[in-house]
Amino acid sequence: MAKLWGGRFQKNTDEKVDDFNSSIRFDKRMYKQDIKGSIAHASMLGKQGIISLEDSEKIVAGLKEILVEIENGQVKFDIDAEDIHMNIEKLLTEKIGDAGKRLHTGRSRNDQVALDIRMYLMEEIDEIHVMIKHLLEVIVEIATKNTEAIMPGYTHLQKAQPITFAHHIMAYFEMFKRDIQRLADCRERMNIMPLGSGALAATTYPLDREFVAKQLGFSDITYNSLDGVSDRDFVIELASVLSIIMMHLSRFCEELILWSSHEFSFVEMDDAYSTGSSIMPQKKNPDVAELIRGKTGRVYGHLMGLLTIMKGIPLAYNKDMQEDKEPIFDAVDTVKLCIPVFCDMIATMKINKDNMRNGARGGFTNATDLADYLVKKGMPFREAHGVSGRMVYYCIEQNKSLDEMSLEEMQSFSDIIKDDIYDAISMESCVNERKIPGGPAKGTVEKAIKKALDFLKTV
Ligand code: ARG
Repeated sequence: MAKLWGGRFQKNTDEKVDDFNSSIRFDKRMYKQDIKGSIAHASMLGKQGIISLEDSEKIVAGLKEILVEIENGQVKFDIDAEDIHMNIEKLLTEKIGDAGKRLHTGRSRNDQVALDIRMYLMEEIDEIHVMIKHLLEVIVEIATKNTEAIMPGYTHLQKAQPITFAHHIMAYFEMFKRDIQRLADCRERMNIMPLGSGALAATTYPLDREFVAKQLGFSDITYNSLDGVSDRDFVIELASVLSIIMMHLSRFCEELILWSSHEFSFVEMDDAYSTGSSIMPQKKNPDVAELIRGKTGRVYGHLMGLLTIMKGIPLAYNKDMQEDKEPIFDAVDTVKLCIPVFCDMIATMKINKDNMRNGARGGFTNATDLADYLVKKGMPFREAHGVSGRMVYYCIEQNKSLDEMSLEEMQSFSDIIKDDIYDAISMESCVNERKIPGGPAKGTVEKAIKKALDFLKTV
């Protein structure tokens, strides 16, 4: 089949090369952006007198019809036309004749694809933004119901100090809040219009680039034609933001998997978000959480792949860059697949407050509070740390917890201990005395939740 660029060739490309070279299989998903971009370009060409107004209008009308035909499933794309850009141009020329051949005036596929991918990814960012916002709302809702649900906090996965489930889960609010901000920041840099860069050295036609940018809703234009066609930083940035989102989901999933184990039993996934075993009748596995954790690797892989594709490419456009699409599309698809199922999974899980509370009681999570008690009675902290540590050791030997010691037993370690100690080292005090901003005390977490709700009104 004759190629749109076939003029200087004597021979057809090998069939295998047609297939190899073609990107229509995966770039067809940018059809809407490609048509939108072409409509803006054609209108500008007409306005500038570069083509006649009549041709410009014919092109715009033809492109609008093609859009409807594609959406109705009436169009079969052609591998020989290589990519979405040439497929649409070919359809247009078949439809409106010679006027269609004027569309590509002052444009190259290099700046065209740079335009399309920016527009496509900005729309995807907007969808992911909405999904993360919903996730943040779900987190706040769970937190609101659990400000008194005491649980152990961990460092090194060893019981450390008591916190509440609300406080724990609000840590994830902070993480996903940063993600939503990172997405917005990435979108801002993406929001510049490269058309007019041409193949690499702009063009001699008097294009009105600002007009095109305005038509398409971009906030600015690119200011170097080489960079305009060869920059894929925004793809890599987005892959990096998506990787961080997956990393956060994955850490959350890891905790949920751990907490669903018999040993912890802090949470139980709803049956609708668990699966059984084909051999072990008793099993209820947190597959959804595991799969999200697993898919994280896939998104990281795409980030690494994109960085590697770009690392050795001389300016300006090179065909290597066609390889940017599959990884970033799959990264976007994966994140969009994971967030909604994750939201529903955590919204429906059962929280076993009693088991959490029992978990907080074991493991001497109030040993710091015991030391702090001694400090408040005048003992230097380092000394108090030693006394509390010796009391812990004693309790381990006696197989009891700190609050199970009698006052006499306690006083044998330090006579400044009085019977107000029991209140000072109760789980409630351990949590609720940590009331400085950022702490787990009920009132403090309630303030953090209020701040979170205020933030949600701004995004
Ligand atoms: N399909 C190509 C891509 O995705 C479009 C640009 C092709 N330009 C070229 N001169 N071969 O990058």
